[in-house]
Amino acid sequence: EKTRHYRIAVIPGDGIGKEVVPEGVRILEAAAETFGFRLDLQHHAFGSCDYYAEHGTMLPANWKELLTPTDAIFFGAVGWPATVPDHVSLWGSLLQFRREFDQYVNLRPVRLMPGVPCPLAGREPGDIDFYVVRENTEGEYSSVGGTMYPGTEREIVIQETVMSRHGVDRILKFAFDLAQSRPKKHLTSATKSNGIAITMPYWDQRVEAMGERYPEVRRDKYHIDILTAHFVLNPDRFDVVVGSNLFGDILSDLGPACTGTIGIAPSANINPEGRFPSLFEPVHGSAPDIAGQGIANPVGQIWTAAMMLEHLGEVEAAHAIVAAIETALRDPASRTRDLKGTATTREAAEAVLRAFAAG
Ligand code: NAI
Ligand code: MG
Repeated sequence: EKTRHYRIAVIPGDGIGKEVVPEGVRILEAAAETFGFRLDLQHHAFGSCDYYAEHGTMLPANWKELLTPTDAIFFGAVGWPATVPDHVSLWGSLLQFRREFDQYVNLRPVRLMPGVPCPLAGREPGDIDFYVVRENTEGEYSSVGGTMYPGTEREIVIQETVMSRHGVDRILKFAFDLAQSRPKKHLTSATKSNGIAITMPYWDQRVEAMGERYPEVRRDKYHIDILTAHFVLNPDRFDVVVGSNLFGDILSDLGPACTGTIGIAPSANINPEGRFPSLFEPVHGSAPDIAGQGIANPVGQIWTAAMMLEHLGEVEAAHAIVAAIETALRDPASRTRDLKGTATTREAAEAVLRAFAAG
């Protein structure tokens, strides 16, 4: 048997990233030990505002050479607005990775975990369990357009939506593959073909065409306005939800918000073909308001570790980590302050590690 060996770039970034990434690394090392694979972890201080203070850039000139040969990037959070403006820190690091590594899938699980107060009344863990798949490279977020006659009565502002067959088909293929791999085999497409009458009918048409190749996957579509309502009213209805860049952006915040705290949600930026490394990070940012106090919830970063392992093919290990998170969260003593508990970052992470070792 080929030895399973993964090269992982570890970039903690700023603020609580530096506190939660080490906890994510601990679970990765425990998983490697238990499930018999090897990890070569390459720790980097770049992609942080401390690095910027020292070097005047967020990344070294050779960052691509350093990161391209890795199998994945395990990222914390970037941003320290007190010293570096957010557009400088974000565009200088994370957004470079997403673009240069053609990470055209943004993937977020939406799952109600035990011990997390659900903002939606009457929902139990198990009721909500789906994925949001967002197109990450084109669509509404384009640089095509411009301004004419600025500052005058004739002022004109235009920004075009760009949908390419290449771009639409590849995100749909990823979403259908994901749906096909899940027990419910159900794909929901976010559209607005009644109002956006050129690009969205095109999107719908490509969904139909791709769907023909997945006869086992049940598919439906909703206009984005009513779809947001269903996320709140009927979240149990969904399995895999795919949307364009803008619709996916909205849904990928709304989904995790429907299942509680930002402190536990993970996300992935994926290049499915593996031509470039994919990047895994919690949904939350660097949380300057609580940074340095040792009270950040580490679960988002730990769940991120599980997502990364699943992507690398270590599915059993990934499921074991998610199960350990569920076990740990059931115990109020293992919850951090954002979950109305008193556990420190370290204690909350220890509880997951214990559950992992016991499971
Ligand atoms: P944030 O996610 O850092 O914090 C929002 C609120 O949630 C804060 O009150 C924070 O204390 C709380 N929170 C976040 N993560 C938590 C955790 N693990 N445990 C407990 N509480 C947690 O978003 P904010 O404040 O808008 O941004 C702060 C910085 O982070 C900015 O520089 C921003 O640009 C950056 N950011 C970076 C992201 C990334 O690296 N992908 C994503 C979002 C923001
Ligand atoms: Mg967003």
